[in-house]
Amino acid sequence: MIVLVGFMGAGKTTVGRLLAAKLGVRFADSDQVIEQRRGRSVREIFAEDGEPAFRLAEREVVAELMRGPDAVVAVGGGAVEHQPSRRLLRAARVIYLEVSYDEAMRRVGGDAGRPLLSRPDLADIYRRRLPVYQSVATLIVATAGRPAEAVCREVIGRLAREPGLPPGPRVRLLSQQDPNRIRPHEGVAPCASGCP
Ligand code: S3P
Repeated sequence: MIVLVGFMGAGKTTVGRLLAAKLGVRFADSDQVIEQRRGRSVREIFAEDGEPAFRLAEREVVAELMRGPDAVVAVGGGAVEHQPSRRLLRAARVIYLEVSYDEAMRRVGGDAGRPLLSRPDLADIYRRRLPVYQSVATLIVATAGRPAEAVCREVIGRLAREPGLPPGPRVRLLSQQDPNRIRPHEGVAPCASGCP
């Protein structure tokens, strides 16, 4: 399981979709699952049911996705504030997409679909979450000024060199880095340089 975490505007959904497509696995976004189930947007759920109701739904969906089949999962920016959810993430490769507060606001500022943007203490929320994102991350990837494609390539390259990766996923990751490196009859690919 690969999980993307980070603040709003980090690019979790865009990078996650790309990554899933390249790895040939399912993509899921916790916000989208909640919206589909409730038949309403995140903004409407916040407005009509309140944030606590949204957080409850978010916890349930994150737990369900973590128990589900292998996938690339993007979780909402606030999901990691829930300790039991963090515990569930320990079983996954967790990629923290870093974005500065100013850059995040440039990317999502004015998006009416993001209810948190109206919070006067948003900068404090950002500061409070940074160490939490860092603590759950197995990989930290900078996104400043980089297109999603470049971020995705870095994620794939670094994941492929991760110790303890099962042979199947490693082969898929290496073949994404260099399609000529692995031929179907070779089975498990040799480790790329830098591998343990
Ligand atoms: C939130 C982030 C949003 C969404 C909701 C709350 C947050 O997801 O879950 O608006 O608390 O940071 P994204 O991080 O995908 O924008």
